[in-house]
Amino acid sequence: MATRHIVLIGFSGSGKSTIGPLLASRLKYRFIDTDQRIETDTGLTIAEIFRHKGEQAFRRQEIQTVVDVLNRRRSTVVALGGGAFESREIRKVAGERGLVIYLSCSRREIYRRLKGKQDRPLLDVTPSAGQTVREAHMSRIEILLKKRLANYRLADLVISTTGKTPTLVTRQLLKQVGRR
Ligand code: S3P
Repeated sequence: MATRHIVLIGFSGSGKSTIGPLLASRLKYRFIDTDQRIETDTGLTIAEIFRHKGEQAFRRQEIQTVVDVLNRRRSTVVALGGGAFESREIRKVAGERGLVIYLSCSRREIYRRLKGKQDRPLLDVTPSAGQTVREAHMSRIEILLKKRLANYRLADLVISTTGKTPTLVTRQLLKQVGRR
């Protein structure tokens, strides 16, 4: 039987890179964050790839890396970048090779968790006239979330991380994964 990985999807700040290693250690799986893998493979940060090569080039690299990781045999908890599930190819491979878990989170909490961070190129917004930086960020989060929600909801499991500690989310996830 094909290996069944655990694939964590969700918006930036939803907890994929925090919950992933906790879940992996409890399940005795390996953990891979595909953004980190892309940075290691290319020798560039995600922000540098966006800046120098553009988003399209980043998305091509993302598909290649995610497909490669999911095709490995060793059971792995894989944290995808927030936009990865927009790719039909990634959705297909993830569905075939893994149990897909959507970590949902309120936009207010996403905003709070990402505030002050400079490493998310898509959230790097300039406020329009009369808009505060907070409003500009909230509106960008809102627009992207709305656009992505239909694909996020294709996951096999959905768990909210809003207002929860990583330990609690991991405990709840382990219970649900055990039933699958
Ligand atoms: C992106 C999210 C980022 C990273 C890149 C693009 C997105 O990953 O892949 O900046 O499209 O939302 P995180 O979800 O880990 O922030």
